[in-house]
Amino acid sequence: MAQANLGLAAGKVPAPPTLSVVPPRPQCSASRLFAGRDILGTHDLSMTELDVILETAERYACALENRERLRVMDGKILATLFFEPSTRTRLSFETAMLRLGGSVITVSEAGSSSAAKGESLADSIKTVDGYADVIAVRHPMKGAAQVAADAASIPVINAGDGTGQHPTQALLDVYTIKKEQGRLEGLTVAMVGDLRNGRTVHSLVHLMAMFGNRLMFVAPPGLEMPAEVTAGLRSRGVDVYETHDLEEVIPHCDVLYVTRIQRERFADQAEYERYRGSYVVDGGLLRRAKPGLTIMHPLPRVDEIATDVDMHPGAAYFRQAHNGVPVRMALLALVTGSV
Ligand code: NCD
Repeated sequence: MAQANLGLAAGKVPAPPTLSVVPPRPQCSASRLFAGRDILGTHDLSMTELDVILETAERYACALENRERLRVMDGKILATLFFEPSTRTRLSFETAMLRLGGSVITVSEAGSSSAAKGESLADSIKTVDGYADVIAVRHPMKGAAQVAADAASIPVINAGDGTGQHPTQALLDVYTIKKEQGRLEGLTVAMVGDLRNGRTVHSLVHLMAMFGNRLMFVAPPGLEMPAEVTAGLRSRGVDVYETHDLEEVIPHCDVLYVTRIQRERFADQAEYERYRGSYVVDGGLLRRAKPGLTIMHPLPRVDEIATDVDMHPGAAYFRQAHNGVPVRMALLALVTGSV
């Protein structure tokens, strides 16, 4: 923008700053940090970037609570391309965009799009690139979000790529942990369930590791956290403990992050049936938990958390799902340079 438009032509002494009722906008630099960026994973996020996302999300959470009508994305369009089932991720992305005053176009599951006619993901993305300002994509293939980002000129947000990553879920998980526990450091976090195939934990570990937390991985034999993930964490000095025994970790953890056995990742459904019900969190198990335990789940749950646990004061999974809106508002506004 030309300086003359701001009344700052050469030689002109700017007036001293006046007090304003409008709060300062630290997000100006935030916008520069994120504008035009893809969000594909969590491993490349710095502490500063994470802070910016969490602060922006908090600002939007307050605006939502105050029933403010936001217009920062007025005239902008989000395309949600979901080639796998979704309830929370798609609806909260779309709610986020609508709450920011923007609009949404959508393709849900392969059957209703040209993917059913054999179109490649890259070609679909190159097309949508001309319709929207930002894309949220979910796809069964690990690495698909990268393929989409390579094909797009607009920002691409990974809404889950097969067994790979689910960065927006991990960011709302971290936001939830901060809200529920009041801090992000000095915690023992147990992740339970299908850690081999569950993409939410693959993204969450990087963020929790940044704060020097103790991580406990509880999985049935064969569904453990991939060895390269645990090796990477240990090489960064992260305290990682692995076990098959859920009862053993319960008295130690501040956060219990439960995941579903990922049925759709098993070629052999008999194998899935063998794993199904490996762990069930119920009132009996929780009697041995620390006071102040936070129980989380990205949802959907199948049978991993008994419904009687919903009454537990630390049962945060529905609050967690709701936190998806302000966090995704923050991400959409940041990558489109709209904050
Ligand atoms: C998760 C996913 O899709 O990876 N769900 C979600 O996005 N909230 C977890 C799951 O499906 O088990």
